[in-house]
Amino acid sequence: MRRRAGLRAPARVESNMRWDGDDYQKRFDDLAAKGVDVHGEVAFVMRYTPNSVLDAGCGSGRVAIELANRGVATVVGADVDPSMIATARKLAPAISWVQSDLAALDLGRRFDVVVMAGNVPLFTPDGTHAALVAGCARHVAPGSGVLISGFQLGRGYELDEFDAHAAEVGLTRRERYATWSGKVFPGDGSYAVTVHAKD
Ligand SMILES: C[S@@+](CC[C@H](N)C(=O)[O-])C[C@H]1O[C@@H](n2cnc3c(N)ncnc32)[C@H](O)[C@@H]1O
Repeated sequence: MRRRAGLRAPARVESNMRWDGDDYQKRFDDLAAKGVDVHGEVAFVMRYTPNSVLDAGCGSGRVAIELANRGVATVVGADVDPSMIATARKLAPAISWVQSDLAALDLGRRFDVVVMAGNVPLFTPDGTHAALVAGCARHVAPGSGVLISGFQLGRGYELDEFDAHAAEVGLTRRERYATWSGKVFPGDGSYAVTVHAKD
């Protein structure tokens, strides 16, 4: 039986969390070995047929690597955590990995899709969410590009705040779903996948 992957974020924001990239990746590898579909985010992103994707808060690179495997020409992963980036580099040395806080990131280029999968804002320090969203927006191609973000609700950073932060940096909400498989929002109200476009 195939089940959807789901690693829950902690009940409160863990902005000082230190990651073990190999251990984090192993949790997904173990789920995949049991037949769980761990690539729901990638399937969602591929609907936009991007040529270039920035995996923002890429962790161990599981999303970026699968996007490259599915033929996305340019994939870049960025994450602030050194252990996560080390695992990503080890798994896919040919992909460009950048260790950086997204709030400060400026790669000097734009992408068709910037994707924040896996609750990234819930692991971002309090007071830096506006800068996090701005850092993502900086890398979205105006006109055609989108920011795709998925995170759990009721965990300290909510959609009204997120939408306000997005609007401040010229992002307009285009779509919102309850799951990465595209269920109608709000569904059970525990999760949101949002697509913002850049004006
Ligand atoms: C639960 S992991 C998700 C990793 C990956 N996106 C995935 O779906 O497997 C959350 C990641 O967000 C990263 N993160 C949180 N805030 C960040 C920030 N401000 N800048 C860069 N990375 C950040 C963490 O370091 C961590 O690797």
